[in-house]
Amino acid sequence: MLNNLIDLEEVSTDKLGAIIELACKIKANPEDYKECCRGKILATLFYEPSTRTQMSFQTAMMRLGGNTIGFDNPMNSSVAKGENLKDTIKIISGYADIIAMRHPAEGAAKAASLFSDVPIINAGDGGHLHPTQTLTDVVTLYNEIGRLDHLKIGLCGDLKNGRTVHSLIKTMSHFEGNEFILVSTRDLKVPGYIKSILKASGCRYTEHDNLSDAMPTLDVLYMTRIQRERFSSEEEYLKQSGVYVLDTKKLSLGKQSLKILHPLPRVDEISSDVDNDPRAVYFKQAVYGMYARMALIYLMLNAPAEKKQVKLPADNRVNRCDNPNCITNRESYLPRAFKNSGDMLTCMYCDNRMLI
Ligand code: NCD
Repeated sequence: MLNNLIDLEEVSTDKLGAIIELACKIKANPEDYKECCRGKILATLFYEPSTRTQMSFQTAMMRLGGNTIGFDNPMNSSVAKGENLKDTIKIISGYADIIAMRHPAEGAAKAASLFSDVPIINAGDGGHLHPTQTLTDVVTLYNEIGRLDHLKIGLCGDLKNGRTVHSLIKTMSHFEGNEFILVSTRDLKVPGYIKSILKASGCRYTEHDNLSDAMPTLDVLYMTRIQRERFSSEEEYLKQSGVYVLDTKKLSLGKQSLKILHPLPRVDEISSDVDNDPRAVYFKQAVYGMYARMALIYLMLNAPAEKKQVKLPADNRVNRCDNPNCITNRESYLPRAFKNSGDMLTCMYCDNRMLI
């Protein structure tokens, strides 16, 4: 089925459909799946804080009959002694059958896949991608709306640093007729590579700075928090926080059929009285996420693709990626690798684009 899940772009629409279908089946009949990963071990390596993602991976594996190991604070592991990512992954892949990892550096899961003997799942790499949140989101949309196409999807908040936003746009741009309404401040717009993907997909998108104006036409509103940990200073963060708040007044501008999603955690971007509105599905979304991860783990362990060693071609055209947060700038042994896109080079770890 899948070797690794680093980016949902590696998953065909058919395979994505199979994951969604299985997640729905498991949700309907969880008893049927409670032994299907008996004897298997999932390692959760969380170099960054998490509640939902880590615990939903753990409960997903437990509900499939498997076991879990891992850390949620790298300072309690050999990372605190200076162990590099390669060595940690080499060791854990000898203990576990599958690894879910979250890391603050962009491209870290891709880097890990170069050294792992078992499948790697990207549970978030810096501000880059978060494919299992997208699985969560599409399972939610499929269950709550009944389709993934011809939707007007509003995304609001930190569209620059929000990895859930990047992964969701990439995936939803493969479905016909979707239109994206991107609401953010000028400083927090989606990165250029995401806009290029949107242009190439043929999906319509527009950028706005006012949430109320966008509300009336939306089928889906995906709210996100301002990603405090990605700002260079508290002062920079404070300039952006509190700009967009969905409250009942703004919600009254939305359609009755609107669905409000949020990957959570929420800070102040949705006021808590919105929680009582039937259009707010973000708490249900977190539960769908567990079923999505159960389906993913089940398929990766029970219908495994032949494990191919991931190899990136060494590339000397430039000697470093100019994204300071790219994993290749933190772990110097990693081979640099770029692909050509027009007159740009794109880093194969973090998708950062540089002029040749
Ligand atoms: C998201 C993340 O970690 O990117 N959280 C999650 O996994 N549900 C969103 C966020 O932290 O804002």
